[in-house]
Parts: sequence; C-alpha cells; structure tokens
Amino acid sequence: MSEKGPAGERGKDIIKAAKDVLNANRQIVRFKTRTGLEERLLVRPPDKGFYEGNWLWDTGFNELGVAIFNPKEAAEIFLNFIRFSQWRNGFIPHILFYQKNQERYFPGTVYWKIERSENCPDAYTSGITQPPVLGFCALRIYEGLKEKTPEGAERFLIEAYPRLLEFHRYLFEARDPERVGLVSIYHPWESGLDNSPRWQVPLLRIPTTVEQLEEIRRLRRDVGALTEKLKSEGVEETRARELAFKMRPADEDYARYLALVRFMAERDYDDERIYPETLFNVKDVLFNSVLYTSNEALLVLAYELKEKTTEEEKKKIEADVRELKGYLEKQRKGFKKLYDEESGLYYDLDVKTKKLIKRKTIACFMPLFAGLPSQAQAQRMAEIAKGPEFKSESEKFLIPSTAKSDPSFHPLAYWRGPIWLPVNWLVARGFERMGLVAEAEEIRRALLDLVSQKGFYEYFHPDNLQGLGRENFSWTASLAIELNEEPNFWKKLWQVG
Ligand code: GLC
Repeated sequence: MSEKGPAGERGKDIIKAAKDVLNANRQIVRFKTRTGLEERLLVRPPDKGFYEGNWLWDTGFNELGVAIFNPKEAAEIFLNFIRFSQWRNGFIPHILFYQKNQERYFPGTVYWKIERSENCPDAYTSGITQPPVLGFCALRIYEGLKEKTPEGAERFLIEAYPRLLEFHRYLFEARDPERVGLVSIYHPWESGLDNSPRWQVPLLRIPTTVEQLEEIRRLRRDVGALTEKLKSEGVEETRARELAFKMRPADEDYARYLALVRFMAERDYDDERIYPETLFNVKDVLFNSVLYTSNEALLVLAYELKEKTTEEEKKKIEADVRELKGYLEKQRKGFKKLYDEESGLYYDLDVKTKKLIKRKTIACFMPLFAGLPSQAQAQRMAEIAKGPEFKSESEKFLIPSTAKSDPSFHPLAYWRGPIWLPVNWLVARGFERMGLVAEAEEIRRALLDLVSQKGFYEYFHPDNLQGLGRENFSWTASLAIELNEEPNFWKKLWQVG
C-alpha cells in the first residue's frame, strides 16, 4: 500500500464526503454521571441519529481517520471516552452512555447494574469490553498531534498512556489468570462481531427460560424498527418482516446475551468469580490480535514518554517497558495454540472444551495484523482469503464476515456474511505487514471503490454490494480516509514488533 489514494478527482470527492460524515456525526452532548456531574462533552457516536453513547472500538477506529486531518479533535474525543468510561480497576467498557435513561439502543443503562461493582466509574457505562484497538489508535493520534502541537501531544501522552496500560494490565491479570498469553472474552458482544457463528456452540450452553424469551420479545425493538424501515423503502410487509429477522440476531440469542449480562452483574462484575464460573469463556483470536498490536503501540508510547520525563519517572517507565515486552513474548507463545495446521487458519479457543472453534470467518485472518503467522502461513492464508470459500459474486477482493462455506452464511445477516470496513481494514493492513503487498493493495482499492460507489454504510451485501444497516456510519468514513491518506504510518509501528 505504497501509493496514496485512488486516482484523481474521485479520490478527493470520497475524502470530502467522508469528512462531511465525520463532522456531521460529531456532537456536543449534555453528559450526566451517576454522581451528579453535568457537563457538555465533545463526542462522536457511531452515527448521528440512533446511538446515544460512544462505543469502544468504534471510538478507536473513528478517531484513527480523524487524527489525519484534525488530531486535536480526535484527541479530545478519544480522551473523553477513556477518561469517563474507565473503571477503577483499569477496565474500559464497550459503551459510555451520555446519560441515564438512554434506552433507544437496547440494552441501555438500566440493564447493566454496574453500581454493583466496587470498581464502577461515575459515568453510566456497560459492564463488558470490546476489542482493544485503543492502543494503536492512540499512537496514531499522538503522531498526528506531534506534527501540529507538540505540547498537545505531550498532554495526550501523559493522560492516555497510563490509562491504556492500566487497561491492558487488567486484561492480562483478570482475563488470563492461567498466564498463557491469551485473554478471554465473556460475551459475544465483547468480540465486536456480535452474532458471529463462532458463538453458536458456546451460547447453547447458556440456559434460558420461557419467561426470558418472552421478556426479550417485549423489550427488543431492532427487528420491528428494521421492518418499518424496509417497508418505507418499498419492500412488501411479509418480505420486510422475513428480511428483518434474517438480518438481526435471533430472540434465543438475545435471551442468552441478556442472561450473560445478568450473570456478570449478579457476581458484581468480579472477575475472580466470573472467570471460572461462566459458561461463555473464549480466547478470541481477533481480540487477542489487536491487543498484540496495541501492546506494541504502548511500547512506542512508553519510549516517547521516557524521553520527556524525570530520572525518577524514567525508572518506572523502564519497568513498564519490561512488562509490555513480557506480555508480547507471552502472546507470541499463546498464539501458537490458536493455529490449525490442517485448515491453515487461526481460530478462537473455547476455554470450556479446550478446543478450537473451527468456523471459517474473517476473524481467522486477524493474526496477520499482529504479524504473528510465519511467512508460509501468511501465504497460505492469502490463498484461502482469495479462494472459493470466501469469494463473493462481486468478484472483488472483499472478505465477507463469514465464509460462504459456513452453514450459517447469509448475505444479509449482520456478522454472518456482510462486508464490514473495520475487519477488512485489519486484514488489509495485516497483509501489508506480512509483506503481501499485492493482496493489501487489492483490498484497499476494493474498499475505496465500494464506499465511493455505495456510500458510507455500516456494512454491505457481499454479492451485490448494496449498502446495509445505517447510512453515514462514522467508522466506515474514517477508515476510508485512513486507507486513502496513510501510506507510511504503519511501517514505523511494524518495525517495533
Ligand atoms: C454493533 C456491532 C459492534 C459495534 C456497535 C456500534 O453492536 O456489532 O461491533 O461496535 O454495533 O457500532
């Protein structure tokens, strides 16, 4: 990915349109905490109309692109998210709600009961996390700031670095008590790929009751809202209902999602009780891959901070450096457990069965982004990514969220088929990292063509490339800018690894 941008005028048009989306989605909201603090806060939710909070990995990806043209704004939104959402034990949750009673997105604040935890923050947040992309996104924001405002860069570093290190510490201590170098997730939503078929079997272990199913039917509004939207687009009623059901997770899944939330809240979000007892405990390959790269980024930030600090502080940072290197070394060993020689792919490890969850999805390629596969493995992964199992009718090199060969594949079903920008971005940068430049370039071009032809949708149909989900989505716009404008940043980071 050595060239800049798609050819000529069209490139400029996409960038302008992407910036417009990101600017339109930026808001100053009234932010109110559980403890009565009230202030006006600069935020950027996933889109303009629907979401009433900032999501963890959306915030990272959104500000990654904004860092290129407005690093000050990216830094402010990023810091607002981590500053207010972080728990006292370092944990960073997947949603920072702007205030109470925000129930448009289900489940809203009331379901999490985070006040049961001695570690909960003042703000309203969820009680689960999301893929830890924040480390490498922070590094990009820092680099952007350095060019424009060195004092701003230093202030950002001083606040972001220790918070993110605390978060990683939490993950390695609480979510990897066996110290194998692989951290666990407790909930499908923690993976970021909510209804991925990888969670089908672990979810079946979660008991649900008829009452819970009925409750879910009453509470969730997503299928109804989607049916209405499809009808307004001219789809006939029965067909609209059918499509909406296919596009969203099933009621049975939702009942289990909520049962898992209840399980954690009942244990006061205490990892020492949750980790051994939960029936959903998975070493997620995507989560651990982005954690690896974020660890590398924190190492770079640690070196930067060391330059700017007192002798006393330097010693502390040297200890951090040793700690981060220790995590990276452990992770390299841990990842060997996730590789399956027979199929040539990496998978998640189910802690309950001690077996790999061998479902072919885009997550299988994520170790490329961490630079962990051998060269031969990476070549084989590239062949598989380009091969018939992942190839869609569009003939473009765009990787569907789930392989066509998986029995759950459906082109409309959220993470079971559609094409999503953030995960394709991770694979494109992953190929680049592994020196597979032609593959990286092909995905990059295909993604930029996709958004310039269809717009900045939340996700896309893998065969006809129709835009799906919500329009004008922040991370789609941000990553288009990133892919168009950023030929050199990552090479520097890859050298550290
Ligand atoms: C959905 C997606 C998740 C994303 C969130 C906000 O839950 O599955 O990955 O972070 O929406 O965009």
